[in-house]
Amino acid sequence: MLTTTPLTPRFGVEITGLDLAGLDDKGFAALRAAFEEHSVLLLRDQRIDDAAHIELARKFGPIEDRLADERAEGETFKVPEVSNIKDDGSLTGEMDLHTLNLRANMLWHIDSTFLPVPALTNILIGRVVTQKGGETQLASSRAAWAEMPETLKEQIRNKALWHRYSHSRARISPDLAKLPMFNKWPDQCWPAVVSNPVNGREALYIASHTFKIDGDDQGASATLIDTLTSFITKPEYVYSHKWRIGDVLIWDQRAVLHRATPWDYDQPRKLSSICVSLQAQDGLDAMRQSV
Ligand code: OGA
Ligand code: MN
Repeated sequence: MLTTTPLTPRFGVEITGLDLAGLDDKGFAALRAAFEEHSVLLLRDQRIDDAAHIELARKFGPIEDRLADERAEGETFKVPEVSNIKDDGSLTGEMDLHTLNLRANMLWHIDSTFLPVPALTNILIGRVVTQKGGETQLASSRAAWAEMPETLKEQIRNKALWHRYSHSRARISPDLAKLPMFNKWPDQCWPAVVSNPVNGREALYIASHTFKIDGDDQGASATLIDTLTSFITKPEYVYSHKWRIGDVLIWDQRAVLHRATPWDYDQPRKLSSICVSLQAQDGLDAMRQSV
């Protein structure tokens, strides 16, 4: 039987009594209901290999594949890794572009807001974990929005925001931002507030990739974007996850921002990550219609 224990007073639960590998329809329905309600799900001590990870992701929807256009014919999808370990086992250097990209993950963000179809969820699994640092933090933009002062809310309600992948990379390094992989997609515009189609609860939809409030040509956007992000990421809206091998963290990108925290780069760290794309029934059509 599935049991839930709160991770914080406002959002997130740890789920026990559920084996994610080979989940049946009833088990998935319970998982999905918890996802809609609690925004962040943690399941520990899971034995879940890449094939089972892919199978679980498919139950949420279509798997996001950012490299589809770069892959040679016959090459199949590989589970993406967030890792500082190279193929030969050595670690990436502190100033490598790869490490700089990991540093960009330390800015509060939502995955894939810069894609024509953003993500519903990221299913992240602990493979190689650090003793010190390297936590993943999640902030509830739903709880923060619900408790935000009306004077701040009214500055952003009914507005739309522009997102660009290279924008978050440029905040770390101009060279990083120039890489082709950060410039593949045109700027995307999404509503600043999105509503969950199952329970109607609203959340701010803002990320490190957000570079402008639609219609603002005076350059005042940056300040408001910073103010809103700071509000969402106040300690009372944040859960900090200390990784163990076999941990599975699943979050709702429509209701949560996240970031990595620093660790010693001479320590290996590897998470496997599959993002699932939003579908019409997850609110994608509504998001498109309101901008
Ligand atoms: C990600 C991500 C954070 C981390 O996988 O999208 O932002 O802690 N990861 O590595
Ligand atoms: Mn991310």
